[in-house]
Amino acid sequence: MKSIASAPGKIILFGEHFVVHGTPAILAAIDKRVTVTSSFTDNNTIRVNSELGTLEVPISSSYEVKSEFRPFVYLANKMVGSNQNVNGLEITINSDIPIGVGLGSSSACCVAATASISGLFKELSSEENLKMSIEAEKMIFPDTSGADCTVCTYGGIIDYDKINGSKKNTDTSNLNLLIANSMIPHSTKRSVEKVSKFKEDNEDRFSQLCVLETKLIGEVNLALKNKDLIRLGLKMSENQKYLEEIQVSNDTLRDMMSCLNEISLGSKITGAGDGGCIIALVKDDNMDKVPTLLGKDKECFSAKIDTRGVVWSKIEE
Ligand code: MEV
Repeated sequence: MKSIASAPGKIILFGEHFVVHGTPAILAAIDKRVTVTSSFTDNNTIRVNSELGTLEVPISSSYEVKSEFRPFVYLANKMVGSNQNVNGLEITINSDIPIGVGLGSSSACCVAATASISGLFKELSSEENLKMSIEAEKMIFPDTSGADCTVCTYGGIIDYDKINGSKKNTDTSNLNLLIANSMIPHSTKRSVEKVSKFKEDNEDRFSQLCVLETKLIGEVNLALKNKDLIRLGLKMSENQKYLEEIQVSNDTLRDMMSCLNEISLGSKITGAGDGGCIIALVKDDNMDKVPTLLGKDKECFSAKIDTRGVVWSKIEE
């Protein structure tokens, strides 16, 4: 039997970094997916095939593996552990989400791998799948807020709030969102550590910024409800000011945003920053001007919002 699951990548519309410190955030799943296929083998190993290479380790070993493979080995061992008659597992990852640029590649992998591997044994509820995928993601990134795995699980636009509970908003019709990749890879773990250091050195200002971000998210929810794009754009640029202040922006990202000024209602970093991608809310009928404004060295595409979240199926052989 093959157990196949796919999950979407994501963008953070508002609230990255501050969400790690307890404020709400708004995220959207995008129409780029990772697919994970799992099957049993007789090799007494866990074998992982991905575009980053192949890993094969003995089952149940505490073998130290490269960080990007850790979630898969963790999930495989966790699920094989209680099943004495399983001899081995093969896990294959195929992705169309660019890696290391803030579009949720690792969260989507963790969500899809949890559904795919668990599907060999027992189908999990979305809540169980989410909980286990966050545990898996912590193998690479211990401080994760859990927001990315949440949107990759449920799809749509998510109001993420760890304290008061998250909600899915499926009315995604009128957002003309552009994603532009600076082509500068980044490490989410490192950017999050840098922001924690900023918080330590600037305690009062950081807590003011958290209050401002929470207020901004409330205003964004109202703008989304009223389909007030002008206000939404302004809020994106206001959020960017907070991200500049916590020092996760750089000249390349600022240049990209200013190149898009004439056609956008607002723009900001999406995800950890320090490279990766920006998003811009583009005025109607202006998408085709983007490549000329940004230049050929930047990858850009219009973000279509995925409403399905994680999807699982199996093939009996
Ligand atoms: C990364 O996509 C988003 C961050 O807020 C980290 C997190 O929420 O875990 C930077």
